[in-house]
Amino acid sequence: MTEIERRIEARHTEPDYQAWSFSDAARARGRHRDSVGGKWDEMGQLQLDFLLGQGLEPSMRLLDVGCGSLRAGRLLVPYLDPGHYYGIDIGHDIVQAGYDLELDDAARERLPVQNLRITDRFDADFGVPFDMAIAQSVFTHVSLNHIRLCLYRVAKVMKPGGKFYATFSEKPKDYPVDGTWGRAYTERNVYWYYRRDLRWAAERTPFEFRYLGAWGHARNQKMVEYTRLPD
Ligand SMILES: C[S@@+](CC[C@H](N)C(=O)[O-])C[C@H]1O[C@@H](n2cnc3c(N)ncnc32)[C@H](O)[C@@H]1O
Repeated sequence: MTEIERRIEARHTEPDYQAWSFSDAARARGRHRDSVGGKWDEMGQLQLDFLLGQGLEPSMRLLDVGCGSLRAGRLLVPYLDPGHYYGIDIGHDIVQAGYDLELDDAARERLPVQNLRITDRFDADFGVPFDMAIAQSVFTHVSLNHIRLCLYRVAKVMKPGGKFYATFSEKPKDYPVDGTWGRAYTERNVYWYYRRDLRWAAERTPFEFRYLGAWGHARNQKMVEYTRLPD
């Protein structure tokens, strides 16, 4: 038998965020913190500081897209007026762990559980318009078509003038499409993107794109801003 040559370049399995689960022991070891990338205190504070720098105020309503175990949420909930923090994510157990372990009773009082939702297609319609939204280290884990869907749906729930901030792993425009430097790929998780990909993904939405670039992210993810234009 003549063996057919195999060329396998990317030998890893895709994480299934929907299937993530955390036993009590894993929760106690802080796996729900590590699973969102570690750097728990630093990356939570960075998000709060960034949003404050963009003009976040307590009276605003904020949507945290891919909120995970509330690394930012645990700081945003006490800052925002009660009921003004909302989070969506594809993984149930990661959000549940954040809600159970990372908020104290006072914070849980300020965050109705109805403000959190597990959704596999970025259903962010809570019946309220948002002033700001953030997707921190989420576009690094989803395809470009997911990003397009995310922008399409989030645009529908933003106030005119509202801002949606998103981070991504950027490669320069001369970087080869088949490049895999740093365990990031164009076709699989972990994803890298060109700046223009992030602009393209918003083409069918009422979002105006602006590249913000470096914002102090520990792994050098860059920030983009989508501003909701009036209807
Ligand atoms: C690296 S973590 C970041 C979590 C959070 N934004 C933070 O900064 O701590 C990525 C998150 O994106 C979520 N995620 C991945 N794919 C998603 C999708 N299609 N829709 C919503 N959330 C998704 C994961 O479940 C995970 O919680």
